[in-house]
Amino acid sequence: MRKPVIAIDGYSSTGKSSISKIIAQRLGLVHMDTGALYRGITYFAIKNCTDAGGAIDLELLFSKLNEIKLRFEEVESELLLFLNDSDISKEIRSNEVSSQVSLIACQKAVRDFLMEAQRSIASNGGVIMDGRDIGTVVLPDADYKFFLTASLEERTKRRFLELQSMGMESNEDEVRQNLITRDKIDSTREVAPLKQAHDAILIDNSKLTKQETIGLILSYIKEF
Ligand code: DC
Repeated sequence: MRKPVIAIDGYSSTGKSSISKIIAQRLGLVHMDTGALYRGITYFAIKNCTDAGGAIDLELLFSKLNEIKLRFEEVESELLLFLNDSDISKEIRSNEVSSQVSLIACQKAVRDFLMEAQRSIASNGGVIMDGRDIGTVVLPDADYKFFLTASLEERTKRRFLELQSMGMESNEDEVRQNLITRDKIDSTREVAPLKQAHDAILIDNSKLTKQETIGLILSYIKEF
């Protein structure tokens, strides 16, 4: 029997990726964290496509997109992201990348560039993909769609703790502000904005643990 395609969309720091990763392990699916792809392109742009003032030069980035090869590799059960053979898994979580990624993600050229890779990985089923536009644009025919949300305070706490656990300096105000700004840009952009698909199941996990959220999602998935 064909394994399902599951789309998980929602706001930043609602646990989409870590939840998807565990569900993938439980159900034997491939997990794709699409936010990491946008972060990877942002990291490339910061390193290779800035103007004299240090700002990202979008035209330069568009002209260099064909130099970017992003791939995931599982090492000791961690999913690492490689950019042209360098492991950039930690770098893509930095505040510098977080504060610029929404600018990159609202560019149509960037979204088109990543579309094919996302669709082809799901074409044979057996995938759980998390992001912002998976259920609405990338995989509108997904077998299951979930949309995760949580209060701003709870999300701030989670992102702050995540950064701390990675040994990265940050403060809660900065993290909160970054989430507010990204929510706004992600939901109001013209191309593929963050929104709940009409047939997605809404889950507010402000008061749910990660395990409870996983249990709730699994309760909707039929045996296959
Ligand atoms: O999930 P994340 O915080 O790692 O995502 C980083 C950014 O990438 C987020 O601000 C919005 C963007 N993104 C997107 O536009 N579309 C996706 N499918 C995934 C992420």
